[in-house]
Amino acid sequence: MNVLSVTSEMFPLVKTGGLADVAGALPKAMSAHNIDMRTLLPGYPIVLERLAPPTKVTDIDIFGMECRLLSSDVNGLPLLVLDAPSLYSRPGGPYVDEHGRDFSDNWRRFSAISFAAASIAEGLTGGFWKPDLVHLHDWQTALTSVYLKYTFQSRIPTVLTIHNLAFQGKFGFEELENIALPEAAFGIDCLEYYGAASFLKGGIQTADVVTTVSPTYAREIVTHDLGMGMDGVLKSNKSKLKGIVNGIDVEVWDPSRDPCLISTFGPESPERRAGNRNYLMNLFDFSGRSGPLFAVVSRLTWQKGIDLLIDAVPHLVDSGGHLIVCGEGDRALQDGLRVLTKHYPENVAVSIGYNEGLAHLIHGGADFVIQPSRFEPCGLTQLYALRYGAIPLVSRTGGLSETIIDANDAANAMETATGIQFHPVTTTELEHAIDRAFDIFGQPTLMRRLQTHAMRSDFSWKYSADRYADLFRGLVSVSPKVLPLSDPRTTRQPSLVAPSPTSSIAARVSK
Ligand code: ADP
Ligand code: GLC
Repeated sequence: MNVLSVTSEMFPLVKTGGLADVAGALPKAMSAHNIDMRTLLPGYPIVLERLAPPTKVTDIDIFGMECRLLSSDVNGLPLLVLDAPSLYSRPGGPYVDEHGRDFSDNWRRFSAISFAAASIAEGLTGGFWKPDLVHLHDWQTALTSVYLKYTFQSRIPTVLTIHNLAFQGKFGFEELENIALPEAAFGIDCLEYYGAASFLKGGIQTADVVTTVSPTYAREIVTHDLGMGMDGVLKSNKSKLKGIVNGIDVEVWDPSRDPCLISTFGPESPERRAGNRNYLMNLFDFSGRSGPLFAVVSRLTWQKGIDLLIDAVPHLVDSGGHLIVCGEGDRALQDGLRVLTKHYPENVAVSIGYNEGLAHLIHGGADFVIQPSRFEPCGLTQLYALRYGAIPLVSRTGGLSETIIDANDAANAMETATGIQFHPVTTTELEHAIDRAFDIFGQPTLMRRLQTHAMRSDFSWKYSADRYADLFRGLVSVSPKVLPLSDPRTTRQPSLVAPSPTSSIAARVSK
């Protein structure tokens, strides 16, 4: 079976968050199911720079613009790239300019990639490769199923995965000029959403199946509290809504051979984490001090509860803990964290920016990783923390609630606990959870047991890839063929970009 995955980011080429990790890992996992998943990405400069030399598949006219569809691969994963310099060739990230402002033509940039995806699904690259199903991710590519239904009247099956309902791709109708959609698509049954157009709503209405990245979040988003205003639309599409929890790429995140670690280790040798912990303590000028090392690796946003963390830091420090934050995001939260480093220079350090290598090292050395999210569709950070033996301290919401087993008395007695959960998501409850972390830290046997269980938890893609494969097969009804052993997709490829080795981490850390 051939599946076209359409995404606005993909590790290791371009990443702002967990979507990239999922889009990069899922195709690898699907190849074990004899599913040939190719990924279509916008041709941002960073993508074009990092690609193996591409070949042109075809020219494509998108809204009157002459564009090219390129084919290449990364780490053995096949890619299609939409080369449209007037849309993508500019400084900044995938969604924002170099000053952090949304590009004003994001509606056109992501309509274009969706139009290209629909064209491929309809046979544009027919002689080269043709999908049997299209898998879409978030609002940026959700318009694909709208094009397929309204512009092409296509019957190819589509699956839309919602990674984060907070982002809905809302634009005024007056902005959306010339995007090759008929009038009917702008009505209440499709794009219209409170007087504007929502690309995500259009996708939800037109995709055959809508998934989100954990069963708990699938239940939460049909409620008023976490439905972000889209709960009514989701409720009326409930019969096609499913939750499939994310996995992690256990080759990219492998503490036994991670080049970003000072000291590699595994579940049988958690004591070797000390090398990474000592390195971090030195790097952030905490060396020679006792007390647990807490860390946060996160986008710095309201979703992630960073304001609650800031309020809880005095308690953490007064109790004798240390904290490293690696993240970037809202200016006010960045400033709030910087103020804390001035107040508590011996206990709090902040590395503002995106630093993949440091993220790996933190997971390999910190005692606890804190995630006080107000909502969390799945969350990958806590899964990386588990695999690297850093005990996750998380709010009980979304994917966090179903991937972490709280160290309550019953779970400790059964020896199944892997972390600490708290609820409701308030500073007071976060402080209580921090107290529990101190308590566990003060009991080395319990701490070691938790670490070992955490590291033995299996959050590889295996389980969830089975769910996706069943879903795709059900929609396409194609019987599986066996991959020949020599197929390159069955062999492991060396990893390409991604984490910078530890040598470059120090240079990028600021306090
Ligand atoms: P979200 O996608 O909502 O940001 P996830 O937990 O699913 O949350 O994924 C976040 C991903 O981004 C993880 O791979 C995490 O390691 C990474 N990440 C977040 N902030 C940073 C940062 N400042 N530097 C490096 N990696 C980061
Ligand atoms: C989103 C969510 C996060 C999830 C990630 C990958 O960014 O915020 O919880 O893990 O997508 O699905």
